[in-house]
This record gives sequence, C-alpha cells and structure tokens, in this order.
Amino acid sequence: MLFRSKSPDAGCWRLPTHLSIGMAYNLAAMTVVVRSFAKINLGLCIGAGRPDGFHELLTVYQTIGLHDVLRVSLERGHGIEIRCNDPRVPNDESNTCHRIVEKAMQALRAKGRVVIDIEKRLPVQGGLGGASANAVAALLGLERVLKKSLLPVQRLRIAAEVGSDLPLFLVGGTVLGVGRGEQVYPLEDLPATACVVVTPEVGVSTPKAFAEWDRKLTMVGASDRMIELGPGLSAWLSESYSGAPRSSKVVKPRRGRAENPLLELVRAGIKNDFEQVVFPEYPELSEGKCALERAGAKYASLSGSGSTLYGLFASKEAAWAAAAKLRRQGWSAQATVTLTRREYWKKFLVSSF
Ligand code: C5P
Repeated sequence: MLFRSKSPDAGCWRLPTHLSIGMAYNLAAMTVVVRSFAKINLGLCIGAGRPDGFHELLTVYQTIGLHDVLRVSLERGHGIEIRCNDPRVPNDESNTCHRIVEKAMQALRAKGRVVIDIEKRLPVQGGLGGASANAVAALLGLERVLKKSLLPVQRLRIAAEVGSDLPLFLVGGTVLGVGRGEQVYPLEDLPATACVVVTPEVGVSTPKAFAEWDRKLTMVGASDRMIELGPGLSAWLSESYSGAPRSSKVVKPRRGRAENPLLELVRAGIKNDFEQVVFPEYPELSEGKCALERAGAKYASLSGSGSTLYGLFASKEAAWAAAAKLRRQGWSAQATVTLTRREYWKKFLVSSF
C-alpha cells in the first residue's frame, strides 16, 4: 500500500509534520522511499582558517530539483548495507549514509539491519552536495522506518558530525550557512528560478582548494573576505524582510528586484571565492562558466568547490534551450529549477510501505 506525503509545514525549521514519525501513517512501514535533492551555493565566502582545521564560511545554499532516490529498509539482523547503481559510490563505512546511520542507530538505541539503496541520478561531480543530501535522506528515512525520532538538536549535531554541508538539507529552500557551513538559518523562500547545471568531468579536492586559498591569502596578504560579503548580504536580506515604506524619491528603484529577488541576491556582489583558486587550476571550468553566460544565464557561478557550475535563467524556456545548446557544444548540462522549502518537503517523501 502506498502512502503519499501530506502538505508540509514549510515555514518551520523543525522536521515537517509529514515526516514526524508514526503519525497518521502505517505503523508497520518497513521501507521508505525518499528524494535526496541537490544544492547549489549562491555565493561562498571563505574566511579565516580555524584551529580545528576548518575555515569560517559564509554562504547561501539553495536546494534545486535534481535529485537521487533513496530506499531505506529495516530488516532482521544487524549491520548496515549500502547498495548503489553507480560503482563510483563507495559502499563501505566511508559512505556518508553508512556514517550517519551508524550514529543514528546508536543515538536511538535501535536494532536491526539497515539497507540503503541509492538510485544515483545526480552527477557524482562535487559541488551539488549529493553525498551529503543522501546522508540526510537516509537519516530521515531511517527515523521513519524505525518509528523513532531524534530530537532536532541531535539530528543537527549528527548531521554536522558527518559533514559541514549536511545540515542545510534538514532545512531546504534558501538557507544561510555560517560557521564551517554547518550552522544553518532558513531564509525567506525565493521564487522558483530556472537554472542549468553543468558538470564537467573534473574532480576537485575540497581540502586542496581550501589549502590553495590559504596559500593565496598568505601570498597577497588579503584581509578577511567576510568583511566584504557580510555587509552586501546583510543589506539584501534586511531589505527583503523590511516592511519599511520605500520612497522612489529617496531610494533608487532596485535593479532586478521586480524581475526576481534571487537574481538580485546573486548580483549583489556575492561571489564564490573558490573560483579564484579552482579556475586557474582547471581552465575548463572557467570556460564552462563563460559558456553558461553566452547561453543566456543572468548569473553563472561555480557551486561549492566544484566542479559543478550553474547558471540562473529568466525563464524555464530559456534554461531548457540553453541546456540543449550547451549539450550540443559538448558540455554535460541539465536544466532544472530552484526548489523552495515548501516544494522541497512536499516532494521529499515518495512512499512508505
Ligand atoms: O565537512 P566536510 O567533510 O565537508 O569537509 C571536508 C574538508 O574540507 C575538511 O576536512 C576541511 O579540510 C575542508 N573544509 C574546511 N572548512 C570548511 C569546510 C570544509 O577547511 N568550512
């Protein structure tokens, strides 16, 4: 028997009600199928290196419609089994799903054999947070099959222990990330925006990209980039949320605001700092960004440390036409839309049986 998700409590940071364990659903459910959506970074500012080896970050995460599908089952016995249709995905203890399930089983004092089946649809190239999204989807699916719930604070802690960009997937939509990227704050849902994701066949090592950034900062003696991004982001957010009346005599009409506040955010001067160290090393990624711009993107950027690139477009038609054009040019390109928090949670649960 198939159980569809109910409308989510989209404005709420807590796990949406349709994911609360053992609500109006089949209490004997043993398998849960969930979508594991990808993210892009709308700007990413790298700050100071920290004594724990991480760097301070300031970024805006945005979930998008591209996704993997995870099937989480609980069987008799013990242990964790990871299956995946893509041989590049590890199925041992290094898999993020394995790591998070192990921690959650301990925290929940649960018993049984957990089987996670990952249907990989997302490109395995970095920057989309695929492995992180898989882990969060596995965690939420596990809670549901176990009919046991972690406290929100435990869930967040366990997610952050597995990786810096896991907690964003417990929020979805447009999310401010600070600290090492693991401290997440839901931002106002922005309208769904058409985008094209380009995934060059290049693997970028995130720790190496951070190390290269440190080397570059030391060489040029640059000041903390947070000081630059912080005020731009704060101005954009405070205007977005402010109810203050605007006088056209005093305040100039804002470029692009009428068009799309998401496009205004990315044009507010926020950039992805990783471009400065990743593009010189991999010139084809810089070419990919230019190709997106030539194909009509209103804004194009590297996502995370790459190698994924994305472009935001004025319409779905423009995005779909651009993706087709980029593919003809030899790029691996997919058109999709950004996913609001409401849509993220509405589409998260596929079935439970
Ligand atoms: O947390 P995550 O597993 O994504 O981090 C991978 C690596 O990236 C870390 O071990 C660290 O070298 C680097 N990193 C960092 N600062 C961050 C996030 C990650 O230096 N804010």
